[in-house]
Amino acid sequence: MNLKVKTNINNYSVLIGKNLCSKINKIILKERIHSQKFLIVYDSKVPAKMIKSILSKFDKKKIEKKKIVFNEKSKNLKTVNSILKILEKQNFSRNDCLISVGGGICGDVCGFASSIFKRGLNFVNLPTTLLSQVDSAIGGKTGVNSLSGKNMIGSFYQPSLVISDINFLKSLPKKEMLCGYAEILKHSLIKNKIFFKFLKKNFSKILSHNDKFLERAIYKSCLIKKEVVEKDEKEKNIRKVLNLGHTFAHAYEATIGYNKGLNHGEAVLLGMMSAVEFGRQKNILKKSDYKQIIDHLKKLNYCNLNKYFKSKDISKIIFYMKQDKKNKDSKINLILLKGIAKPILNKSFRENNIKSFLKNLIY
Ligand SMILES: NC(=O)c1ccc[n+]([C@@H]2O[C@H](COP(=O)([O-])OP(=O)(O)OC[C@H]3O[C@@H](n4cnc5c(N)ncnc54)[C@H](O)[C@@H]3O)[C@@H](O)[C@H]2O)c1
Repeated sequence: MNLKVKTNINNYSVLIGKNLCSKINKIILKERIHSQKFLIVYDSKVPAKMIKSILSKFDKKKIEKKKIVFNEKSKNLKTVNSILKILEKQNFSRNDCLISVGGGICGDVCGFASSIFKRGLNFVNLPTTLLSQVDSAIGGKTGVNSLSGKNMIGSFYQPSLVISDINFLKSLPKKEMLCGYAEILKHSLIKNKIFFKFLKKNFSKILSHNDKFLERAIYKSCLIKKEVVEKDEKEKNIRKVLNLGHTFAHAYEATIGYNKGLNHGEAVLLGMMSAVEFGRQKNILKKSDYKQIIDHLKKLNYCNLNKYFKSKDISKIIFYMKQDKKNKDSKINLILLKGIAKPILNKSFRENNIKSFLKNLIY
């Protein structure tokens, strides 16, 4: 399955399917990327067999490779610098190409390195997690973490090509599959009720790697992200809908201290539950749609904040919600739903309002 993302700077293909890596060299040529040199940066957890198969498709003399242990701690300028050093040392030109083979972190870091090396060299992204295939590989946001927080240093830089080979997902831990599913579900909730119904019916097939359903869910999800990004590349307005549930989610992750007790996808599921509950309490969200969403989240087992938080955590959660980049004044900005596929932007609420809401959920 293919789709084309059209942006102000360039148009690029997103290819989704099985065994795409086995013809990566042909795909790159077909997409008119005529590079003389390639640097392949890959995540240490991607199975060696997959990496070997990718490397074997290139002329040995034309490739450099670098294996990196990617995590939120190594998502920093030091890692970017280690990539830039190779590009410089091997005298890469703008026409040459950096290939990322890894999850969202690897893609964000490589995308950023590509954007600043000689003001931009070709960047090909091979996302290897479900989250990166359905979300982060599309849209051109790149970046690294800094002392002041997550993704604080970065750029908008579109890839030249995205190849999402679902074979990568076979080795992905269950929790990481759920992370990706959270974003797929988010895309359905902001844009497509029929897709939401498809997910409700088939989520267990998707999570248990049924190729046909997985591929369809990835494709649909990418299509939604593409449509949003094409309308608002630099997140001036409509792209903010992609943050549904994320103001709560980021605060939940930060409050727990970014540990394995609650990973990003789980936080997003809890964040969406919170946004949906809040929308209902404020009489913004239609009752029947509210019920459908909550029923689905219950099936996924992500409706209970008490498993993760105590009432003493509420002030900390509010503190982090107030740090959100979307806030303009002292109020907290939330993306909410009027119904499924009917998001609303720019709704701001006073801190006390959200505090008393959370007190009803966490006790
Ligand atoms: N640029 C964007 O628009 C955007 C959007 C959403 C999220 N993000 C960023 O993406 C990151 C999260 O991405 P992620 O969920 O892919 O996390 P990740 O890159 O950390 O990958 C998750 C885990 O899976 C491992 N892994 C990767 N591929 C694997 C494979 N095929 N088999 C087994 N293990 C594998 C990784 O080593 C890691 O431990 C965050 O840093 C977030 O800020 C960016």
